[in-house]
Amino acid sequence: MLDTDHVPRLSSRAPIKALPGYYADERGRRHFVNDLFDGSARDYDHIERLLALGSGSSYRRHALRRAGLAPGMRVLDVATGTGLVAREALATVGSGGSVVGLDPSAGMLAEAHRGLSITFVRGRGEKLPLSGAAFDFVSMGFALRHVSDLDLLFGEFRRVLKPGGVVCVLEISRPRLRTVAALLRVFMTRAVPAMARVARRHSDARRLMDFYWDTIDACVPPEAVLAALARSGFDSPWRAVSLGMFSEYVAKKS
Ligand SMILES: C[S@@+](CC[C@H](N)C(=O)[O-])C[C@H]1O[C@@H](n2cnc3c(N)ncnc32)[C@H](O)[C@@H]1O
Repeated sequence: MLDTDHVPRLSSRAPIKALPGYYADERGRRHFVNDLFDGSARDYDHIERLLALGSGSSYRRHALRRAGLAPGMRVLDVATGTGLVAREALATVGSGGSVVGLDPSAGMLAEAHRGLSITFVRGRGEKLPLSGAAFDFVSMGFALRHVSDLDLLFGEFRRVLKPGGVVCVLEISRPRLRTVAALLRVFMTRAVPAMARVARRHSDARRLMDFYWDTIDACVPPEAVLAALARSGFDSPWRAVSLGMFSEYVAKKS
């Protein structure tokens, strides 16, 4: 079931907070996040399957198509990680299209390389090492929480998109109902790591899931994401929500 929100009247900047206990500033954030994903790259797909109860691939595929991804398009997948979004994008664009995967974590990119034969680029979303007006579609899955300057990020997305190109950002939002948020927290930080430990003895799942939850908790609200897209010059940004927490932010470059 999808609900949709359109851009609210909100013009002020709403920066993502630094996270006490993890990092104190932007430099610390980059170092911590990179170290975390490098360290959990080998187990990431397994943990993701537990977390999404096996529905992650189909959710990513349908979300990309809902946003307008179509055969023949040229796609940039930012924060590609092990390639879970890129794989679904490639299946949709087919042999007439192409997908480039970008990520700052060498560990995650190495895992992606094993299963996907696309072009990979090491880099960050806020400073894309790519030329302008080159893509029809930019995707970013579950990484918005790791970016402190949304204006910089969306400005870069807009720069590399061709006119008429679409941006699609997937992210988990903190459920509005407190009981649902509490249940999600227990599932992520207790149940998923326990299942991962049983399946593989040396998993870093607990650290990853604690951080996952804390970043969801601290992430800017959906209205701030929509406002940042609008400020960055995207047309009519909108958000679709499934199960009260899976957000799809979609906007077009005019
Ligand atoms: C939770 S994983 C998501 C991977 C994949 N998109 C998915 O759907 O499973 C988050 C990824 O974001 C990457 N990341 C962190 N900071 C980033 C940044 N500033 N720019 C681009 N990617 C970033 C991490 O290295 C990691 O691979």
